Order: sequence, then structure tokens, then C-alpha cells
Amino acid sequence: MPDAPARLQQIRAEAEAAIAAAGSADELERLRVGYLGRKAELTQMLRTIKDLPPDQRGPVGKGGNEAKRALEGLLAQRTSALDAAELDERLRSDAIDVTLPGDPPQRAGHLHLITQTRREIEDVFLGLGFSVVEGPEVEYDYYNFTALNHPPDHPARMLQDTFYVSQRRSPDQRSGGALRRDDVLLRTHTSPVQVRAMERQEPPIYVIVPGKVYRRDHDATHTPMFHQIEGLAIDTDITLADLQGVLLELVRAIFGAEREIRLRPHYFPFTEPSVEVDVSCFRCDGKGYLADGSHCNLCKGSGWIEILGSGMVDPNVLGFVADNGYDPAKVQGFAFGMGIERIAMLRHGVPDLRLFFDNDVRFLEQFGA
Ligand code: PHE
Repeated sequence: MPDAPARLQQIRAEAEAAIAAAGSADELERLRVGYLGRKAELTQMLRTIKDLPPDQRGPVGKGGNEAKRALEGLLAQRTSALDAAELDERLRSDAIDVTLPGDPPQRAGHLHLITQTRREIEDVFLGLGFSVVEGPEVEYDYYNFTALNHPPDHPARMLQDTFYVSQRRSPDQRSGGALRRDDVLLRTHTSPVQVRAMERQEPPIYVIVPGKVYRRDHDATHTPMFHQIEGLAIDTDITLADLQGVLLELVRAIFGAEREIRLRPHYFPFTEPSVEVDVSCFRCDGKGYLADGSHCNLCKGSGWIEILGSGMVDPNVLGFVADNGYDPAKVQGFAFGMGIERIAMLRHGVPDLRLFFDNDVRFLEQFGA
């Protein structure tokens, strides 16, 4: 029987060197099986201690268990070192550049349908020589009502119930009234910017005013916030025929070259005369019934769809800016106001206005440009 304790030291030294030199997890696993597995020489030696000469049993038992623990420790150490090195290497070679476009490439987002519609309407008016101006959404009662010919306590204010913000003195108290509790409000329409624009610019003036407006309304065709585009043209000789021509241009650009418009008498405090404007129905071509003879429910069988309010600017409104050259005896013009959501709903067959503001991408992405 060879000297077992010496053989033990030999195995241990050989195994330690092999483990230190191993270059992969697979190789370490092979070494583990080879040196510590059931059939390994070390394992056999420990199992057959009782067959050794008595003086060798102690050193082999002790040394064998020590060698086993030492090799297990070394294996664990090398395994984690190699795992870390392999992970580093994998991270280096598989580096993902998260700034690259996706694969397959993801479509970029697009403008909201309301923004698209606003820009289209703006383009029509820019082409006609109008410029775009804006005004505040938190507005003085003076501009929203008083200067638009709704005297304080005039019942027409009830037509547009709104959200009042605070008590503040309007910059112009020509309304003559004392300070009112409801002097600052969320504007109910873009019309207050008519007066603001005329204060800033002498006639002639040709402007449109896109923006958000607020009303105490909430149902399928009304939301507390919505968008309007106002138009204002004041010059020495503007007539209702000019209004008709400008709006015809608009509806043909938006709803198709075949469209006609009609003006119906209406009432607004700040225009005189006032009209509501209808466009001939683009679903039934103004007939009121469809090709199969059925009733057209877009125009409710009338052949016409209401799209906006307008009229000739009331001389009383010009009177509030007479100091800036708007002498009602010398200049005149028209104004109109339309809801952008309403135009978009009609054009794209959107059944519920609230969809515009739910921000559900399944709805929004149908209108990718
Ligand atoms: N401001 C009116 C509304 O919101 C529309 C309008 C604008 C009417 C300009 C006439 C002239 O209902």
C-alpha cells in the first residue's frame, strides 16, 4: 500500500493547481466531478480509511476532509469569479444602445386631431391675408361680456354661464358699474380677443384667434373646456358679402369643393345683423337623403349642417375702441366664431366630443397624419 497521506497531499496540490487554471464554468464542473465526485480518488480514500494501516487512518481522515473542504471552497470562489467575468464579457459584447430606433421601428407620435384641425383652419385664413393672434384664457368680465355689448345684468350673459375666478378691477370701467364680484372669469368664447386685438392694432385689421374656452356644460357634444377660432375683419368697406365669401372659402377647403353655405338670421349681442352659418351636407350632398333613399342623419334630413356663428360687428363694440381709430361711422366689418371640435367631429364622424380629451391612444391614433 503506497503512502496514503503523501498521495493525499499530491491529489490536493494537483487539484488546487487545476482549479486555479480553469478557464470556464464547464471546466470547473468537470474538475469538481473528477476530484470530489463519487468515483474520485479522494472520495474513495475517505470511504476506505478502515482498510488503511492504523497509523495512517488519523492523518488521512483529517487531511482528506480538510482537502475536501479546501477544494470545495476554491471551486466556489473560482466559479463566482468566472461567472462575474463571463457576465462582464457578455455585457460588453451584448451592449444594447437604448437610443437606437426600435426593431421593428416604432412609429413616432403625431399631432392631436384638434391641433391638426386648428392648423388646417389657420392655413386657410393665412392664405386669405389674416394673421393669427391670441388672448388670455383667464379674462376680465369687461372683455368677455361688457365690451361685447352685454351690459352688466344683461340677460344675454345667461346664454354663456361660466366659471368665475375672483374679484378684480377691470382695466376699463367704462361699463360705469361698480366693482362686481364676478370680475375675473374663464372666457366663454374667443370673442373677447376681438376687443383686445383692436386695442392693440388700428384698423384695418384681419385676424383670427384660436384658443381654449370654458363653459359650464358637460354632455356628448359639450365639454367644460373646448377650442374655438374667432375671426375679425374691420376695414372701411367690409360687408356681409365679404363674410360670405371668406366662409365659403373655408368650408370648401375643409369639407370639399362642392360645398355651399347659407346664412340664417340669429342673435348675438355683439353682432348686428347676426347670422348662423350652415354648410351643405357633405354626406348626402345637401339632399337630405342618401343614395339608397334613406334619411341622412348627419344633417337630420335638412341638407344643411350648422357650423358657426357670425355677423357684422355691432357699432357699440367698435365704440369701446373708438379711441384707436375704430370710429363706427368710418369703419365696419364682420366677426365669426367656430368650435374646432365641432368641425373635427363633423368631418371625421366622431360621435362623442369627450373622446378628444380621454386621451385613449386607440382613438387618437386613428388620426395619424
Ligand atoms: N362667440 C360666439 C359664440 O361663442 C360666436 C360668435 C363669434 C358669434 C363672433 C358672432 C361673432 O357662440
